[in-house]
Amino acid sequence: MELLNILSNEKFVSGQKIADILSISRSAVHKRIQKLRRRGYKIQGEQNLGYTLISKPDALFAEEIELYFEPGNPAVNKILYFPQIDSTQIIAKDLGSKGEDEFTLLVAEKQDCGYGRLKRNWSSPEGGIWFSLILRPLLPPDRIPQLTFVMSLSICKTIERMFKVSPKIKWPNDVMLSGRKLCGILTEMSAEVGRTNWVVLGVGLNANNTLPVFLKKVAISLKSELGLAVNRPSLLSTILTNFKKSYAEFCKKGFGIFKPEYNKRSFLAHKKIKVNTGERTIQGLFKGIDGDGYLLLQLNSGATEKIVFGDVSVMR
Ligand code: BTN
Repeated sequence: MELLNILSNEKFVSGQKIADILSISRSAVHKRIQKLRRRGYKIQGEQNLGYTLISKPDALFAEEIELYFEPGNPAVNKILYFPQIDSTQIIAKDLGSKGEDEFTLLVAEKQDCGYGRLKRNWSSPEGGIWFSLILRPLLPPDRIPQLTFVMSLSICKTIERMFKVSPKIKWPNDVMLSGRKLCGILTEMSAEVGRTNWVVLGVGLNANNTLPVFLKKVAISLKSELGLAVNRPSLLSTILTNFKKSYAEFCKKGFGIFKPEYNKRSFLAHKKIKVNTGERTIQGLFKGIDGDGYLLLQLNSGATEKIVFGDVSVMR
């Protein structure tokens, strides 16, 4: 971690200086440099000048994510990095049930069995941002779905600021860009009556990954929208930092304070929609969400119905 910081902050830095800063021997410095090189960092060594960092791999190594946290204020407590895994969500849930601390992050370069809502397959090749965050909010279980909205809002605001684009939120769990799905959020939990044991927020964000042909009509990646690859560690780190702040406010003040910001970014605003609740399909005009995060649907009769859960499609 510190070695990367040192190399990132200075153009050339001598082996001796690194050894002094880290209180290690010159040969230990050399070993650490070699280790970084094996992980894909290009580091040049110049006789009289020292080491210089030429390029970094496009990887979500814990050290890379940590580089962008606010000094002294890490957005998560622990990062578990996987070059390849079945699903960060499965491992996170297992850790959650075994008592893992809040704000442990699991992040993968590639998932072989990534899944989304309703156990749908989630394409997760290299280049995307696939992560699961373990939380232990002292909140009743009926408030947990609102965490999905807090996360989608954090993602939207981060992407707006970093890339000057305008993603929208599609209730309940999608972030859309240019009319297509950029990101999906899956919230899973274990609870008893009135008490939440653990929550895992799973996020799949199409960043630099190439979408399979069958998804290209409905999904989009940041890279394809912007025409260039994004810095994934910086993006992930900023999302987590923003989420951490919002999470603290949410736990203290509730979801109501986020409602205006959420509704401002709603993909469904003024649209005629169809909601499949699992039991029935209802049509109507989207009227925003309320202070609890429920979807407000204006029916043909003029009455407004609150929807707690459902799959939404926009009608033509
Ligand atoms: C959805 O839109 O249905 C939610 C998709 C959530 C996908 C993420 S990727 C990281 C984490 N691991 C998984 O297997 N799923 C979530």
